[in-house]
Amino acid sequence: MKKSIHNKHADIVIKQETPFNAGPPLKRLSECAVTPTDLFFVRSHGDVPTVNMDSYRLTINGRVSQPLSLSFAQLKNDFKRAEVSATLMCAGNRREELTAMKPIPNELPWGAEAISHAAWAGVRLGDVLTAAGAESEAGFPLHVEFGGLDETERLYKRFKFGGSIPLTKALSGEVILAYEMNGKPLPPVHGFPLRMIVPGYIGARSVKWLEKITVQAEPSQNYFQRHAYRLFAPDVTAESVNWDDGLMLGELNVNAVICSHVENEQAASGVITVHGYSMAGGGREVARVDVSCDGGETWIQAELNHAASSWAWTLWKVQFDLKPGKFQLVVRAVDSAGNVQPKDMEQVWNFKGYMNNAWHRININVQD
Ligand code: MTE
Repeated sequence: MKKSIHNKHADIVIKQETPFNAGPPLKRLSECAVTPTDLFFVRSHGDVPTVNMDSYRLTINGRVSQPLSLSFAQLKNDFKRAEVSATLMCAGNRREELTAMKPIPNELPWGAEAISHAAWAGVRLGDVLTAAGAESEAGFPLHVEFGGLDETERLYKRFKFGGSIPLTKALSGEVILAYEMNGKPLPPVHGFPLRMIVPGYIGARSVKWLEKITVQAEPSQNYFQRHAYRLFAPDVTAESVNWDDGLMLGELNVNAVICSHVENEQAASGVITVHGYSMAGGGREVARVDVSCDGGETWIQAELNHAASSWAWTLWKVQFDLKPGKFQLVVRAVDSAGNVQPKDMEQVWNFKGYMNNAWHRININVQD
């Protein structure tokens, strides 16, 4: 099989070569519940760092009684193996649709391909924090910050990628330090030798090339938590923004996407199968997926292919018997907390282009 850069499949769609950012062709995405590693999307803000395994150490510091500095072998051998089947989705997924409404400069125009699913293995973050004697929350919530080895530049400063999650989430069993992806060691582009997997949260918190963990009183001050990956109201602009006002993103929202057809596709009349993915954040489940072929006038319920884990996406499919004509396919999902997707893009537009979960629409032409 032909491979492209970073051992990725030759069919992967490269959004940016440096730093490397790429995603699978949408039609391949909902073909299987576990995304093949060579098609798994990549979101990187800097170059893939070279790691010397002889000197590599993971440090655990901050509000802990026993700071730790662990070699890769210590981490692997001294802690129990843990597995989680989890979907990663970037907060910038579906940004391209938002840019059609109003430009979003300096951000990657992701289609709906900034999402993939893998089986991850490693050790529980909770076990490592317990070994380090992480403080319990005394009157105010604590945060766990993750620091990566890769460098990037923003606002004329060079710094390393990082971000944090609340200690309560960090201690939940599904949050792991992963060293395996789909049964193999983590590939360099996905964070070798070690990365965070924070299921149910935006992908940015699943820090790759992990080198340090800090337990602290405040959320991370890293650019990618303090400025980027914050959600602002539709009227806020790059010029008017006050970064402290934005919602610091954590749990994913409910979303659904059509993968089987592309915009303005010609389809043959008769029975057509429409399929795609849906996702609920924070460990919630997708309870229902509605699909329309007439722009949202009428709906039918899709058949759901629930994955084994509540941290996984739900693939769905539906069939329509269509005569020649123009049709607008629309999908929307409802999660187990009753959250629904907003109908229009206007309701979710924001100048950084995050968390677009408006109804997903695809126009097709059906011919004899
Ligand atoms: N970790 C580091 N160190 N550097 C990064 O640029 N990107 C984040 C996250 N972890 C990033 C990172 C973002 S925004 C996403 S969506 C996920 O990694 C993507 O993970 P993947 O490239 O394995 O798909």
